[in-house]
Amino acid sequence: SVVILDFGSQFTRLIARRFRELGAYSVILPSSASLERIQQENPQGIVLSGGPSSVYDENAPKPAAGVLDLNVPILGVCYGMQYLAQQAGGDVKRAGKREYGKADLTRYGGQLFAGIQGEFVAWMSHSDSVTQLPQGYEVVAETEDTPVTAIENPQTRRYGVQFHPEVVHTPKGGQLLANFLDICGVRRDWNAEHIVEELVEGVRGQVGDGKVLLAISGGVDSSTLALLLAKAVGDRLTAVFIDHGLLRLGEREQVEAALRPLGVNLVTVDARAEFMGALAGVSDPEQKRKIIGREFIRAFERETAKLGHFDFLAQGTLYPDVIESAGGEGAANIKSHHNVGGLPEDLNFKLVEPFRTLFKDEVREIARLLGLPDHIRMRHPFPGPGLAIRVLGEVTEAKLDILRRVDDIFISGLREFGLYDGCSQALAVLTPIQSVGVMGDERTYSYTAALRAVTTEDFMTAEWARLPYDFLATMSNRIVNQVHEINRVVYDITGKPPATIEWE
Ligand code: XMP
Repeated sequence: SVVILDFGSQFTRLIARRFRELGAYSVILPSSASLERIQQENPQGIVLSGGPSSVYDENAPKPAAGVLDLNVPILGVCYGMQYLAQQAGGDVKRAGKREYGKADLTRYGGQLFAGIQGEFVAWMSHSDSVTQLPQGYEVVAETEDTPVTAIENPQTRRYGVQFHPEVVHTPKGGQLLANFLDICGVRRDWNAEHIVEELVEGVRGQVGDGKVLLAISGGVDSSTLALLLAKAVGDRLTAVFIDHGLLRLGEREQVEAALRPLGVNLVTVDARAEFMGALAGVSDPEQKRKIIGREFIRAFERETAKLGHFDFLAQGTLYPDVIESAGGEGAANIKSHHNVGGLPEDLNFKLVEPFRTLFKDEVREIARLLGLPDHIRMRHPFPGPGLAIRVLGEVTEAKLDILRRVDDIFISGLREFGLYDGCSQALAVLTPIQSVGVMGDERTYSYTAALRAVTTEDFMTAEWARLPYDFLATMSNRIVNQVHEINRVVYDITGKPPATIEWE
């Protein structure tokens, strides 16, 4: 494996992603990880990530003592390179101006760039530069503004790049990272089949002949986890799907039809009445979320009490969740916790989290191998509170019913016109706005529906999707013709920020 020590760069996760894409297993640890912790991973190579600090700051983060002495190749990226250079006796200074954006390497060579040809565009973001080379090192790349853009010491197998090879703006960065893997001698056999085998074995080892409980949301992560667990422990898995009445048209049936035939022991719970009762008269978005979270736990506990004893609770936690919950302090509370369906901590279970080391697209690959139908496998994310945060204001059965029909027309339309996969998320909102319209010869006074579709990498920022006008026109016609409670359709053309993806 490769261990990536995180010095706080926003791109650290991408380094792991690139290695995975190249078929190599890697793991991110905080820069403060102990030498022992790092050695547990049997690293064949180490990457020191970028980060916001300067190596000459008093509190500059450092890896544990002994890390730089490990007899494995080490690659420093940006801050990581400056740290390597400084520790080896070189010098780092604040450059005259901050270099930010794309730069052409005016020359490159050496082991890291082996086999790479043609122009090399590198993404830069730094204010410090290596100004004096440590002994044993040579400069292997430069740009106009940065004479020391990449360095290496082939004897000690220490390498450094000032730019970010992990971002897409460095198109040949993948080749450079592949070269580093070769230097480390890391096996490149990390693929979906391999992962499934390992996960199944891991689950069997952990669970023994215990019984496992899983809450299913209908999304790709928990559905895939259900399939994996069913493969590993058969009917010692019980998957519970709570229908809170805030689902989309036909969703519960789809989940049942996808999982039961593949051997998942699935229990669906009809808790619609409880949720609707608890939501009556409530229009504040955050309060709606709290109520739904609370009712979810109640329904889950009520149901599992009936099902007997379980030793383990399985959760579809992904790698990015693990990393984010490790850091990310002090972020403003824009919306309350996104993982509704989150269960209380005092439940008396041991946790099974087989996906803790995986990225979303890896889960999708596993889902394909395990036979999850594409309409669930490639589905857009759907929030835990469901349609309750898309019926603005108070949630009623009647409004949910209107929204379900609008949403179904829009989502089916996106699929029909081949636009679904090009959007990261699409949704319909029922606004409380009523406005005047005309239908036949009649004046109408009905609701406005809003459609929203976005493209995004990480859902932290998003752009509104430039859907074709003709498509939007077709959707608008279908909606007002088929859903009589709607006489006006608008399309949301706001990015995030300043708007959020959901309207509540
Ligand atoms: P926002 O609206 O914050 O949404 O831009 C970002 C992503 O998170 C989803 N979302 C939620 N997911 N519980 C969830 O499980 C929530 O309360 C919640 N609120 C927003 C949203 O659908 C989008 O994918």
